[in-house]
Amino acid sequence: MADTLSVTDNRTGNSFELPIRDGAVNAMDFRQMKTGDDDFGLMVYDPAFKNTASCKSEITLIDGDLGILRHRGYPIEQLAEQSTFLEVAQLLLEGELPTQASHDEFVHEVTHHTFVHENVKKFMEGFRYDANPMSMLISSVAALSSFYPEANQVDDADARRRQIIRLIAKIPTLAAFAYRHSQGLPYVYPRNDLSYAGNFLSMVFSISAKDYRPHPALERAFDVLFILHADHEQNCSASAMRSVGSSQVDPYSALAAAAAALYGPLHGGANRMVLYMLEEIGSKDRIPEFIKRVKSRDALLMGFGHRVYRNYDPRARIIKALADQVFEVTGPNPLLDIAMELERIALEDEFFVERKLYPNVDFYSGLIYQAMKFPIDFYPVLFAIGRTAGWLAQWQEMLCDSEQKIARPRQLYLGRDERPYVPMDQR
Ligand code: CMC
Repeated sequence: MADTLSVTDNRTGNSFELPIRDGAVNAMDFRQMKTGDDDFGLMVYDPAFKNTASCKSEITLIDGDLGILRHRGYPIEQLAEQSTFLEVAQLLLEGELPTQASHDEFVHEVTHHTFVHENVKKFMEGFRYDANPMSMLISSVAALSSFYPEANQVDDADARRRQIIRLIAKIPTLAAFAYRHSQGLPYVYPRNDLSYAGNFLSMVFSISAKDYRPHPALERAFDVLFILHADHEQNCSASAMRSVGSSQVDPYSALAAAAAALYGPLHGGANRMVLYMLEEIGSKDRIPEFIKRVKSRDALLMGFGHRVYRNYDPRARIIKALADQVFEVTGPNPLLDIAMELERIALEDEFFVERKLYPNVDFYSGLIYQAMKFPIDFYPVLFAIGRTAGWLAQWQEMLCDSEQKIARPRQLYLGRDERPYVPMDQR
């Protein structure tokens, strides 16, 4: 059997044989199918990219039916158990698990780029006391572009690496400053003697930077949460990163766009919406009433469903187990009981079973964040810290892919045909 697709255009009777490569046909191969010389050629229509691969990638594999997630071939379960976030970041960016020497250098570089220019601090001070921390993060990442003019040299591998290090290093600092600002607390500077996650917790929670020591279990839990959020192939924010980056803008500007995409309630903003939902439900006996509202399309079950997974999101399983370890330190989150009962009822209900709706990464993560006393609106910021590694890996892969060009979808124009302008007094 040939690896081709035979297509007959019934408008003309012409037949075409299109090559199938890597399980896909090339959309441009349809352009040759025309009804005449002045016909533009056939396009494919796919709103929301439900069945269109926009790139070739070697970074992350999701098998949605089997509930599998692997980075560069390594299962997420093994990475969460045995790796660290900075090692996973290197794996995503470089393609292989690093040697000790290369990893030591990477950690050293990241650790020594965690400070931000003092003017960034002043810039953040300008936000209102109740500014959403995600808005602060998006804006301050975009502002970093003005501090590093060389970042627009996106074709220069060394310049690219410098911005990658800076972004991974500075995102936790910006995130922590956003937190401190919203709490009316003085900003805490980074500390080089702590781990990536430990330093972040110090910048968030320490009152006097010198003596703060993160609880080892919470420090590890945060590192694992960063790993679990590190990349998820061509999701909305990664596509934004690639699409905006394809104009060859600097990575700070592209990453601000990606973070903005993440902010939305259907994407990384879902973790905060889950908590608002659980608080609104309030008690287990009110779950059936809420499920009724979901089924009548009056509400969404936040933290459930996924474009790609038609099975349990493997990250949700790991987070559920992690939650128990965190609650041993922080004490239990009373909303956990409601969440688990909600999951149990939903997984038995025909509406969710039929549509293959399962908990996703956002269903349980907020319970951990809440137990650690993070304000609800801060949760998407925590998602963004881990995802920065993935955005940068996707951006770099896009820039180095000779098949990529500036992203520019086509449209099907269904509007009015040409017509003469009508002056105001004649309308
Ligand atoms: N609650 C109720 N119904 C749902 C839900 C949900 N959470 N998710 C999907 N459905 C229904 C949807 O209405 C549709 O039903 P029907 O076929 O009868 O019209 C069916 O399931 C298929 O869903 P879809 O909307 O076509 O799926 P999608 O791939 O376009 O959307 C999604 C994926 C994640 C946006 C959606 O499942 C959703 O809105 N979930 C809630 C928000 C959420 O948890 N987002 C986090 C996603 S995972 C982490 C991340 O990427 O940030």
